[in-house]
Amino acid sequence: MRIARTINALRELREGLPSGFEVGLVPTMGALHAGHIALLEAARNECDTVVASIFVNPAQFGPGEDYDAYPRDETDDIRTAEEEGVDFLFIPTVEEMYPKGFQTWVEVEGLTQGLEGAARPGHFRGVATACLKLFNIVRPRRAYFGQKDAQQAAVVEQLVRDLDLGIEIRILPTIRDEDGLALSSRNVLLSPEERAAAAALPRGLLAGQEAHEHGKDPVATAREILSSEPVLELEYVETARFDGRFHLLAAARAGRVRLIDNVLLEGDP
Ligand code: PAF
Repeated sequence: MRIARTINALRELREGLPSGFEVGLVPTMGALHAGHIALLEAARNECDTVVASIFVNPAQFGPGEDYDAYPRDETDDIRTAEEEGVDFLFIPTVEEMYPKGFQTWVEVEGLTQGLEGAARPGHFRGVATACLKLFNIVRPRRAYFGQKDAQQAAVVEQLVRDLDLGIEIRILPTIRDEDGLALSSRNVLLSPEERAAAAALPRGLLAGQEAHEHGKDPVATAREILSSEPVLELEYVETARFDGRFHLLAAARAGRVRLIDNVLLEGDP
């Protein structure tokens, strides 16, 4: 595995590949877990060359959010990436991605209005800008994202469509712990009590999914379960359609950790 810390170094590695080689990109913010590993495995199976990036992108964190506290473990991430067969690991600095004088931002409009976009103003501008930069630097044939961040995945798909990037966006199912909690780099920040309470999030969403299957209101069902867990501070439970897929989504806080999750619903709202 080759590690590139600058855009030029990554470009040189990319240019050394035989023409026609299909490159798969797995963009991450590091603290790699089994969810990321599933993306890396899919990229390994479907592409000639796998590029992973580790960049805790300050532009997608708002003031007072957890940019400083976001888990970072470069040594462990390098080992994981190597074990998973990553060919090139891109670990740029903030100055490399946003040099002095940087002033171009990507705004995806309608899709970013509600849910995470409403809860975290400017978040998707930061995500879209970082993703477009990574796409331009790596020039992948495919890029891999997790279903857990359903709105993010939809925003990236929209960006790729609107700007004719010609990249296939692969969205892979959420990987969960035994009690259903969606894997997230932030889960390590949960106290034991918060970790136990966090399992109410997938429990509520699954109950909502089941209610929907029986013709009942998925939002009301999920909300009832989520509101009854005293350690969780519920932010939203909503349904939304992204790219023809109908989702039940929720966000909640467990102490200082913000958790998001979603499940797919069959049929129409
Ligand atoms: O999902 C993430 O880890 C980040 O939002 C991403 C896609 C790497 C962009 O910074």
